[in-house]
Amino acid sequence: MAEVFVCAADELTTGVIRSAHLGHDDSGLPIMALVLRDETGAVRAYRNLCRHLPVPLDGGTGELLSKDGAHLICGTHGATYRLIDGYCVEGPCEGLALQRLYCRERDGDLYVSNSP
Ligand code: FES
Repeated sequence: MAEVFVCAADELTTGVIRSAHLGHDDSGLPIMALVLRDETGAVRAYRNLCRHLPVPLDGGTGELLSKDGAHLICGTHGATYRLIDGYCVEGPCEGLALQRLYCRERDGDLYVSNSP
């Protein structure tokens, strides 16, 4: 899949999460990218798909971050993922990690894809 435009890089401030649609996987599930800045300010992109069950983290609600903004949270059973590497630190999929996607900045814009 080619790169998909996400947003202007300066629109992605801390606490903001942008989404982009990257088509479907071999099972027909949509590949939705979540693009955000971690606590160091680096841009990270993960697939919006819990590692516990094949459901989006927010279940379509748009609620993705913990109250303090420090983690991504699965609304279904509370899995808690680090922003910096998508690693699950608490919940039913502790020890697993969100699927990483690839984000690039070009001419001040962010693009995401599912391959390096
Ligand atoms: S479906 Fe995400 S923690 Fe259970």
